[in-house]
Amino acid sequence: MNDTRKMKIGILGTGHIGKPLTRKLAAAGHDVKVANSRGPETIDAETLATGARAVTTTEALHDVDVAIISIPLNRLPAIAPLVANLPAATVVIDTSNYFPHRDGEIAALEAGQVESLWVAEQLGRPIEKAWNSIIADSFVNC
Ligand SMILES: NC(=O)c1ccc[n+]([C@@H]2O[C@H](COP(=O)([O-])OP(=O)(O)OC[C@H]3O[C@@H](n4cnc5c(N)ncnc54)[C@H](OP(=O)(O)O)[C@@H]3O)[C@@H](O)[C@H]2O)c1
Repeated sequence: MNDTRKMKIGILGTGHIGKPLTRKLAAAGHDVKVANSRGPETIDAETLATGARAVTTTEALHDVDVAIISIPLNRLPAIAPLVANLPAATVVIDTSNYFPHRDGEIAALEAGQVESLWVAEQLGRPIEKAWNSIIADSFVNC
């Protein structure tokens, strides 16, 4: 019998938020794959210490129940083609926040568009927003 509490999770991003997410979700028993922008060989052992696997970005979003995107907001359009391949039933969760000094000014957001709607437009599908309102240090230690 399948354990329905165990999910197949693909994570893009191994930074301040992606790394603790990877560690915590794998430690909770989920089947976790994780990718960054530079390739699986660059993902450190600490990120993988609780059982996650380092993979390419394409592999990370293949055959998963949940896709978690934890990359800078201005990089989201670049991964849209990967997200487009996901089945409609896959839950897509985005952790991003808009920081103009990091992301560059985005006209629609400066004009007041809700960030999550802008992200959904970029990715071409509905998204869930999570973990974007906790500072990384707090998340690591909670
Ligand atoms: N830091 C916080 O306290 C915090 C809190 C809540 C929400 N957030 C939001 O969460 C998102 C991630 O923040 P962060 O602080 O974790 O960022 P970060 O430390 O800068 O890490 C960003 C990660 O995204 C990866 N990445 C970038 N482009 C990619 C691509 N095309 N494909 C795959 N991976 C890619 C980077 O890969 P490389 O390692 O190869 O460069 C890196 O691992 C941001 O939108 C941020 O605003 C941050």
